[in-house]
Amino acid sequence: MERFYIFVLMANQDDKFKKVISHAKEYGYVFQSSEIYDGLSAVYDYAQNGVELKKNIRDYWWRAMVQMHDNIVGLDASIFMHPTTWKASGHVDAFNDPLIDNKDSKKRYRADVLIEDYCAKIENKIDKEVAKAAKRFGEAFDKAEFVSTNPRVVGYQEKIDSILQRMGKSLEKEDLADVKALIEELEIADPLTGSKNWTEVKQFNLMFGTKLGASAEHAMDLYLRPETAQGIFVNFLNVQKSGRMKIPFGIAQTGKAFRNEIVARQFIFRMREFEQMEMQFFIKPGTQKTWFEYWKDARMKWHKSLGLGEENYRFHDHEKLAHYADAATDIEFKFPFGFKELEGIHSRTDFDLKQHEEFSGKKLQYFDHEENTSYTPYVLETSIGLDRMFLAVFSNALQEEELENNTTRTVLKLPAVLAPFKAAVLPLVKKDGLPEVAQQIVDELKWDFNIAYDEKDAVGRRYRRQDANGTPLCITVDHDTLNDNSVTIRYRDTMEQKRVKIEDLRDIIKQEVDVKTWLKKM
Ligand code: GAP
Repeated sequence: MERFYIFVLMANQDDKFKKVISHAKEYGYVFQSSEIYDGLSAVYDYAQNGVELKKNIRDYWWRAMVQMHDNIVGLDASIFMHPTTWKASGHVDAFNDPLIDNKDSKKRYRADVLIEDYCAKIENKIDKEVAKAAKRFGEAFDKAEFVSTNPRVVGYQEKIDSILQRMGKSLEKEDLADVKALIEELEIADPLTGSKNWTEVKQFNLMFGTKLGASAEHAMDLYLRPETAQGIFVNFLNVQKSGRMKIPFGIAQTGKAFRNEIVARQFIFRMREFEQMEMQFFIKPGTQKTWFEYWKDARMKWHKSLGLGEENYRFHDHEKLAHYADAATDIEFKFPFGFKELEGIHSRTDFDLKQHEEFSGKKLQYFDHEENTSYTPYVLETSIGLDRMFLAVFSNALQEEELENNTTRTVLKLPAVLAPFKAAVLPLVKKDGLPEVAQQIVDELKWDFNIAYDEKDAVGRRYRRQDANGTPLCITVDHDTLNDNSVTIRYRDTMEQKRVKIEDLRDIIKQEVDVKTWLKKM
């Protein structure tokens, strides 16, 4: 039996992120799109394991949102929508990012991201002060008191707040000259070259255009949808009437969205083609504060049920609200490159439905039988990027451990409910009838679970391979199995091994991977 690990090796942030990217490629999770042609920037393909992990995340979300709420139903709207949709939603006029070019390096950046990254560096300084103080004061350390009273930390925090407030106000007023002035005052340099020779800040629309129609003269200009939400809004009344839905009720949807991102250098964190999992919850006007708190809490519980570490999440309330929102927060996750947005929760008021009423000339109102009155519902939205969730889960899971015998192992500690393969069946040797028994076990278990079979190399190497692949359980068939119908089951995370009956395998695996067990932690 292998020895339990003694500690987790820590890599620095850049190294960790590089390891995440190379592991994703080496173990068949994520490939660069059209790699043989040198790839396409910020576009990725999900490989044999990646597609399973992505499907399991999508399913975990769908079950929590649709199956577990009797007032939420699903939808699968088209990617193409009538172009007026995007005029009504405000995307044609306002779905812009502020871009800035560096004149020396010719590199393009999002002006707001340059400023936010500057603030993140100050935040790192706060983290360092906190870590130092925690070490100094030991158990008596009170973090909340320290950050609110330590003069240096208070000074850092005030600086961050004033920078972000000024940026928020300038962007709101479209005062792009002030955004540039802020970059210059903070002496922000091109992260790649150190040059401070910047152009003016300009707005850049993120939607991809395309055409519908066979001949150039009669072709209609279309957009690839930049969010799935609008497919829900335009179908609001269809779903409400055909499903006899009563407010409050929700419509959930997963699907592709497209954005011509100015900067997309963080692997699958910011892509040009990505997938969203969105839910619009239609409510009575005036109840939005209550529902905002409800969904903040519900979504955070969903994240925490996966056990990626409570300390890796935080809320970030928006200073600058989008044109449609009266309250907004992000659930941020600690990615290898720091805390970043994972999910957005927006109180969207009646903006979208009202806009679609105006542009289509059709009423999109709800008739409340109890109150005998019609109104345009308000909307609470939860919106999460599936690819971003994938990156959160995958990067958190990838660990290097030093074992007691001074060897290291690379292990992908994916939540068992999300792992591509739930178990791998391994005949100890490739002879004496063991492969046949192992194959029989696979054939029986595959009705319920995704099961791998592996007979190549020594069993120790196969364990390591399955560890790196993220498979939570290995089932080894040996010569004793032929006599006692028992196998050895090995747990990925603890490396513990147990002898169990073949007939008990289904229940043992179910206990580890059953969605119900995981969702009940919410
Ligand atoms: N309907 C609201 C909406 O689309 P958003 O904050 O622009 O709001 C929601 O996007 C979520 O979609 C984000 O929290 C993020 O997880 C994901 N997302 C947005 N842009 C993305 C991109 N370029 N690549 C990957 N995920 C993205």
